[in-house]
Amino acid sequence: MRRLDELAQDTDEPGKITRLFLSPAHKSAMRRVRAWMEEAGLEARCDDIGNVVGHLECASPEAPCFILGSHIDSVRDAGRYDGGFGVLSAIAIVEELRRTAVRLPFGLEVVAFGDEEGVRFPTTLSGSRALAGTFAKESLGVRDAEGVSLEEGLRRFGCDPSAIGAIAREARQVCGYLEPHIEQGPVLEERNLALGVVTAIAGATRFNVEVRGQAGHAGTVPMALRKDALAGAAAMISAVEEEARSAPEIVATVGTIAALPGAVNVIPGEVRFSVDLRSPADAARRRAVASIRARLHAIARERGLRLGIGSAFEAAATACDKTLMEALGTALSRKGHEDFRLPSGAGHDAMAMASLCPVVMLFLRCKGGISHNPAEAITVGDAQAALEVMLDFLTHYRPPCPGPGAGAATGSEGRGTGEARRR
Ligand code: HGY
Ligand code: MN
Ligand code: MN
Repeated sequence: MRRLDELAQDTDEPGKITRLFLSPAHKSAMRRVRAWMEEAGLEARCDDIGNVVGHLECASPEAPCFILGSHIDSVRDAGRYDGGFGVLSAIAIVEELRRTAVRLPFGLEVVAFGDEEGVRFPTTLSGSRALAGTFAKESLGVRDAEGVSLEEGLRRFGCDPSAIGAIAREARQVCGYLEPHIEQGPVLEERNLALGVVTAIAGATRFNVEVRGQAGHAGTVPMALRKDALAGAAAMISAVEEEARSAPEIVATVGTIAALPGAVNVIPGEVRFSVDLRSPADAARRRAVASIRARLHAIARERGLRLGIGSAFEAAATACDKTLMEALGTALSRKGHEDFRLPSGAGHDAMAMASLCPVVMLFLRCKGGISHNPAEAITVGDAQAALEVMLDFLTHYRPPCPGPGAGAATGSEGRGTGEARRR
């Protein structure tokens, strides 16, 4: 917990926690986490996509590795547990294994991913995708709000974008991935549970919308002659909300908006806003995206506005691995907890890691289900419970024997939608 408070000091906005990908705060957080990894006995290094990777050899060096991890980047004005809890609890596990001289029959890696939130660049999961070998080279061309490309941002950060390909792990090297993470929702608290096993992670579509009208004098242009980009965007944003409210299993958010030129007495000529849409069901998500796009075009036509919809960021819904869910659920039971299962509405690096290996997540209760907010809070007792369950899981876990299809070690369900299953 003290380390989480220390990590919170690495921020780009004094007085708040804002730690964007490839920012000075990300750099200082990497330094801090790397030092903690080395203190725990991990061989730590920083890779060329801004991850910190700590490695703990096991008795047989050719044994596969089990990876624990999460992200150390944050949203703006974030809480201190989203991402950081997963990385620091994994480091604490390694320390405990060393203190008790427990040797696991597989290697362990702890990874602190640098780009889970996707706040700075219009892409996300760059670090976990690079590790999984699914990083798309063309994403190096995406630009942040200042027009800096991801490629340039990596170079300025001291990374070599041309070396990203070498970060990819082979499936046979990795037997599984466990991401401990706060729930960021109210379910565990509502059921008075400290922990839960995640069944599936909702899929996501994100895109930017540009509305162009005609800037004009606020006092002289009659209402009927206006091409007001902000009034048009307001109608569009209401349509996004209506579509999401009317479709089951869909949530949609307009999180950012900019109106130009941004003067009290000028009719806005241009508006940019973002849309973030999630669903555990990929087909429902695609249908909702299509109907929202159609509504936006219809409103633009009615109002004589021009509409541009940027390229979408897509992440399919990810089912967690059945075998790992059973093993983690059994660890919960052994440590006296209900083996409770729940889906994740939030996205996580585990979505990208599922292309490489079987994945599972351990959710930790957070106060009021609040997250992406400085009021985010957990208790020491729940954090302790999570560590005990993770330790029990790892000391009982045995990697699957490499069979004929060993190279294809992906989640036993592959892709699909999870269901909230209760025991
Ligand atoms: O947006 C998300 O779901 C995650 O917190 N990045
Ligand atoms: Mn997170
Ligand atoms: Mn987050």
